[in-house]
Amino acid sequence: MKIFSDKIKLIKFINNERNLGFIPTMGNIHKGHVSLIKKSISQCDKTIVSIFINKPQFNRKSDYKKYPRTLKKDILILKKLKIDSLYLPTMNQIYPRGRNKKIKIDPFGKKLCGKSRPGHFEAVADVVDKFINIIKPKKIYFGRKDMQQLRIIEDFVKKNHTNTKVIGCKTIRDKNGVALSSRNFLLSIKEKRSASKIYKFIINNKKKLIKKKLSIGLVKRKIFKLGVRKIDYIKMLDINKLIKPYRRTNKHKIFIAYYLGSTRLIDNI
Ligand code: PAJ
Repeated sequence: MKIFSDKIKLIKFINNERNLGFIPTMGNIHKGHVSLIKKSISQCDKTIVSIFINKPQFNRKSDYKKYPRTLKKDILILKKLKIDSLYLPTMNQIYPRGRNKKIKIDPFGKKLCGKSRPGHFEAVADVVDKFINIIKPKKIYFGRKDMQQLRIIEDFVKKNHTNTKVIGCKTIRDKNGVALSSRNFLLSIKEKRSASKIYKFIINNKKKLIKKKLSIGLVKRKIFKLGVRKIDYIKMLDINKLIKPYRRTNKHKIFIAYYLGSTRLIDNI
């Protein structure tokens, strides 16, 4: 596994490889990331992973500061997976001419997480755009755990990078049901237990929610009782009707963003 921080060296290494898979991450590599990487290895001739904690997509300085940084451990995991290259860019490598403040994404980027995190998805699209311009992957992998991000990037890439295809990958969960996330690293044992109970409550009541036999209001009250400090949103949405063109089939998911202590967790169940 070759490690690069310099994009010129990385581009030389890529050597116009056509069947290239790319997985952008912010590190603290866990089994969710690993499943994306394994998919790329199975579908592509070369696989590149990046670790870059993209400061502009954080709305609060404190959230950026306390984001888990575990590079040594990450490198060991990635070496074992036998990826071809790990890209560790600096801010300057990605933003030599600053951010693109005029980036255009679908209005869905203003809903759900976009409401409580203004500018977040624009900043994600900007960094993904910059990565694609450097790496020019055939396939770029994203997790369905961050469904809103996946849908926005799918739409953005379709419109701006016709040679790259976005591949959505299933959510990997812990034994206790909680979706794996680098932010889980920041939870206490008690908070992890609460997150698991919330997942189980939603999954067990999903049918009732879809059939409107249970109200979102009641679910909210239950979640507060489980120790949640703040709920940014909880909404039932059809994932096939989030961004046009809509798909014909229906698939409902409960989208949720909430705080346990000062840690913000998101899921779609
Ligand atoms: P990060 O949170 O590190 O996630 C990197 C990729 O892993 C994303 O596509 C995310 O959806 C996926 N992922 C995370 N947890 C997962 C899980 N439990 N199951 C399946 N996939 C999972 O998302 C980002 O970084 C950043 O916004 C990024 C795209 C790198 C841009 O900065």
